[in-house]
Parts: sequence; structure tokens; C-alpha cells
Amino acid sequence: MKAVGISSSGRKGAYSKIIVRDILDASGVTYEMIHLAELNIRGCLGCLKCTRTGTCVQKDDFGKIVDKIILADALVFGGGNYYGTLNAIGHAFWERTFSLRHKCAFPLAGKLGIAVGLDRDQEKKEATSFIEMMMRSNHMAVIATFTDPGHQQCYDCGCGHDCVVGNVYKHMGLTTRELAQANRPEEYGIEAQKKAKGIGKMLGSILENQR
Ligand SMILES: Cc1cc2nc3c(=O)[nH]c(=O)nc-3n(C[C@H](O)[C@H](O)[C@H](O)COP(=O)(O)O)c2cc1C
Repeated sequence: MKAVGISSSGRKGAYSKIIVRDILDASGVTYEMIHLAELNIRGCLGCLKCTRTGTCVQKDDFGKIVDKIILADALVFGGGNYYGTLNAIGHAFWERTFSLRHKCAFPLAGKLGIAVGLDRDQEKKEATSFIEMMMRSNHMAVIATFTDPGHQQCYDCGCGHDCVVGNVYKHMGLTTRELAQANRPEEYGIEAQKKAKGIGKMLGSILENQR
């Protein structure tokens, strides 16, 4: 049994990389990690030539990884929310799976999928939902989704997400940096790590039962 883990982050120490790895390590299955930011994968051109051939005409790195995913039993995909959707690096990958969905043939159909999204809004879960939607549209069997608030980039400059609120607190004697650090949401804490490992174990047992 083989699985593929994909992270669409370009960040060192990215949560998508850590969480996807935690899930796959806990599964006990053999897996390969793919870091999309190290590859050159452009978005879909919409030329529709793949509707005749089932193969994308673009000569970039998508062709190098697509067979690995087709041959895998499971795909764990993790990526961060950028401006209300999955980041562009991840989006480009999923756009290109359009080339795998013609003439009623779906080479990813039935593969187990786990969608990992880093979303600040724990109700909308835009990145997680996008990944899940793309897995389902490829007829994959999504067995779990996992969402974490991820690294809150706005806190790095010291203002926090809501810069206006930061200025209000400045008048109360707190520097914006102090306020931002005090209000910084917890990122991938102990409970979340346990949950990720639980999902990984479940993946391992489903794959074991499929043997
Ligand atoms: C340019 C940029 C835009 C972002 N926009 C959002 C956003 O709209 N919503 C959100 O929840 N997080 C947003 N984030 C935060 C990322 O989703 C977060 O840092 C996440 O941890 C990134 O995934 P990674 O840790 O795997 O790199 C943004 C981050 C960057 C760098």
C-alpha cells in the first residue's frame, strides 16, 4: 500500500507539511512527500486539448508527479488559505487534474483522500473545502478533513489581523506587538496533533483492510 502526501506551501516549517507528515507517519503506510513549491506547475490553460487525449499539453512538472498519484492508494493534500481560497501553488495543481476527467474515465476515482487546510475561519474552512471539493470531483473517497488556523502571517509584523483594533489597544498602554502576541491564536497545538494522528491511524487501518 502506498500513499502520497502533497503540500502546496512554499514556507519553511509550513503547517501543511508538518500535518500531512504527521498523518502519514501515524498511518504506518509507505509514502512519498511531494512539495509543489519545489516544482514548476502552471495553471490550466483551458485549451481543452486534453478532452481528446486525456493528457495535458503543457510540458512542466505536472507530468512528473501525476503518475505517482495515479499509482497511489491514498492522497493526503495540505495547503494554506490565501485570500479566501487555496493558495495559487495548490490551486494550479488541482486545476490541472482537469486533464484526468474525460470520456467518463477518472484515474483518481476510489482513491482515499484526506484534505488538510490551514484556514483562520474555522466555519468557512475555504482552503479545506476547496481541497475536499476537488478530491470529490475526481471521484476520490474523502475519508477525513482536517483544518487548523495555521500560521497567522499578519501577527508577524506586530499589528495582528485587525490593525484597527490594534490601534485602539495602543491607547490603553499596550504596544501593538504585545497585543498581537497576546491574541495570537494557537497554531497546531497538542490536541490538533492528536487529532491528526488519529486520522492517520484511521487511514492506515482502512488501507490494511483493503489488502
Ligand atoms: C499572502 C497570504 C494571504 C493569506 N490569506 C489568508 C486568508 O485569507 N485567510 C486565512 O485564513 N489565512 C490566510 N493566510 C494565512 C495562511 O493560510 C497560513 O499562514 C497558513 O499556515 C499557510 O499554510 P502553511 O503553513 O502550510 O504555509 C494568508 C497568508 C499569506 C502569506
